[in-house]
Amino acid sequence: MNILGIETSCDETAIAVLSGKGEKLKVKKNIVYSQIDIHRKYGGVVPEVAARKHLEILFPMLEKEVARSGKGIDAIAVTAGPGLSPALRTGVETAKTLAWLWEKPLVGVSHLEGHIYANWLSKGKSPQLPLLAVLVSGGHTELVLMKDHGQFERIGETIDDAAGEAFDKVAKMLGLPYPGGPEIAKLAEGGDTEAYTFPRGLMDRPGYDFSFSGVKTSVLYTLRENESLLNDQEFRKNIAASFQEAVVDVLVEKTSRAIKDHDIASVVLAGGVSANIELRKRMKQAVKDRFDLPVLVPPFEYSLDNAAMIAAAGYFRAKQHCFVDPLILKADPNLDIA
Ligand code: KG4
Ligand code: ZN
Repeated sequence: MNILGIETSCDETAIAVLSGKGEKLKVKKNIVYSQIDIHRKYGGVVPEVAARKHLEILFPMLEKEVARSGKGIDAIAVTAGPGLSPALRTGVETAKTLAWLWEKPLVGVSHLEGHIYANWLSKGKSPQLPLLAVLVSGGHTELVLMKDHGQFERIGETIDDAAGEAFDKVAKMLGLPYPGGPEIAKLAEGGDTEAYTFPRGLMDRPGYDFSFSGVKTSVLYTLRENESLLNDQEFRKNIAASFQEAVVDVLVEKTSRAIKDHDIASVVLAGGVSANIELRKRMKQAVKDRFDLPVLVPPFEYSLDNAAMIAAAGYFRAKQHCFVDPLILKADPNLDIA
C-alpha cells in the first residue's frame, strides 16, 4: 500500500510517499521545506505567516513529486492536529480535495501519533509493543502508553511548558536564534553540568507529570544575577549544560518511574527534542541499566517534523480501515492522542 503523507501543523511544509507491507515500511519520498528562516526574525512561529507559506509551497511540491492523477497512491494521510489552526487547515483542506478528486481513502492523523511512528522508520527492528513513548516536542511533553496500533493512553504530561519550549525560551534568554534546542545542545558541549543546580520540576510528587517553567525561571534569575558574564563563553556553556542536565534528569527519572509501574516491552523517544544527543544517551543507558529494556530513537531526519511519520501513522490506521469522510474531516488544533 502506498500512502501520501501531508504535514503542515507548524512551520514545516512536508510531503512524503511511503510504501507499507505488513510491519515493514519504506520511505519512497520525503520532502521537507522548513520555514525556520522566515519565522526566525519574529523569534517564533507566526501562525498566519506559516499558513500563507504552506499554501505557496504545498501545491508546487505536490505537482513536482506526485502524479497529477494520483496514480500510484492508495491512500492519503494528513496531520489533522494538534498544531496551529491556520497552518493545519492548509494541509487538511488540500488532502480532502485530493482524496475527493482522486477518489482515494483519507486518514486524519494526530501529529503526536506521527512522532511515535517515526520510530517505525528506522532501518532496524520495529519497536516491540506494548511500548512507552516519551513524547518531547516544542508543544508537548507527554508519557504515552501504546498498547497496540491505534491504542494510546496518556499517563503523564507537562502542567506548564513543554521541554522543547523550555529549550527555546532559555536559548532566547541567551540571545540564541529560534529554534533554541539545537543551539543549547551545541553550547552545552564541554560545559559543566554541575555548575548550577536548576530545579527538577515535580520530582517530589508522585505520578508522571512534568513541569519545566521552574527551571526556565531559575535560568532567567541566574542570568540576571550574572549580567556581567552574559558574553563570557565559559559561563554560557555552563548555563546551557546545567539547564540541559536538569531537563534530561527529569525526563529520565519520570520515564523510569513509569516503566517500573507498567508492563512494557520497549521505550521510544519521539518529537523534536528526541534529536538531543544527551537525552538519547542518558535515556538509553538508564533504561538499559535499570530495566534491561531497549530505547529506540527515530532516525535524525525523522525526529523533527516531517510527513513520512504522518504517512507511517496513516498506514497503520489504513490497515485498520480507520478512514474519514473528506466532507467531514476538520483540522483540530487541540486533537488529543488518547
Ligand atoms: O517536534 P518538533 O519538530 O515540532 C513540534 O511538534 O513542536 O519539535 C520542535 C522542538 C523545538 O522546541 C526545538 O527547539 C526542539 O524540538 N529541538 C531540540 C533539539 N532539536 C530540536 N531540543 C533539544 N535538543 C535538540 N537537539
Ligand atoms: Zn512535531
